Amino acid sequence: MTSEEIIARGLPEHVAIIMDGNGRWAKKRGLPRTAGHKEGLTSAKKIVAAAAKLGIKYVTLYTFSTENWKRAQEEVGYLMSLIKGHLRAEFEFYKKNGIKVEHIGDLSGLPADVQTEILNAKKDTEHFTGTTCVLAINYGSRDEIVRGIKKIVQSGVNAENISEELVSKSLDIPSLPPVDLMIRTGGEERLSNFLLWQCAYTEFVFTDTLWPDYNENEFFADIEKFQQRNRRFGAVPNS
Ligand code: IPE
Ligand code: IPE
Ligand code: MG
Repeated sequence: MTSEEIIARGLPEHVAIIMDGNGRWAKKRGLPRTAGHKEGLTSAKKIVAAAAKLGIKYVTLYTFSTENWKRAQEEVGYLMSLIKGHLRAEFEFYKKNGIKVEHIGDLSGLPADVQTEILNAKKDTEHFTGTTCVLAINYGSRDEIVRGIKKIVQSGVNAENISEELVSKSLDIPSLPPVDLMIRTGGEERLSNFLLWQCAYTEFVFTDTLWPDYNENEFFADIEKFQQRNRRFGAVPNS
């Protein structure tokens, strides 16, 4: 299907992606895991550009989880410098595609230089009006919800005024809509602490493709799968 046909069938407003399989991609080639992450960044740029071309409003990328600190220091260090280098060097990429950068996750738990690049990228792209690319870095959904609950308690709100809307607004990006389509590459079929609150009625697509091999054609095909789903949200259609 062409991109025009995909657009005509109705796009998901918010697509979230668990970009998994970089390490296995590298291992298959006898390369260090870091080589998989480097190639994974190339994939991420292609997919974000494809989402921008289609006009998808929000793309959230699981980039580094609160659990990923358990990895070898060398791998963690490489990922941090990859993120930092990308954000520092890629303003033109975001500008060309009209992409606004946002962040979810615990910023304060990141190295100072990574924090700076995230804040700079957000500021430099804040006036772009195309796709919003939400980078989940040092992100854990339980951590986000706990931090949100703290904000609610600190605001002094009465228990009877706590609503689903208020909880949503206490999360890292108050205006972030629920996820319509969640894609996970790399063959695992789990959420790994990603967007638990935001995925109450999400459609899931799991693919065995390792993230560095994931491309625009497969992304389009996964959007088509979403378009064939029958979303009922608990209701009986046409009743
Ligand atoms: C996902 O790929 C990228 C990050 C978690 C940063 P992995 O590094 O988890 O790759 P596999 O799952 O080990 O193949
Ligand atoms: C999820 O992948 C995190 C990211 C893609 C950033 P993991 O590879 O860390 O997840 P698990 O450990 O297989 O659940
Ligand atoms: Mg993995």
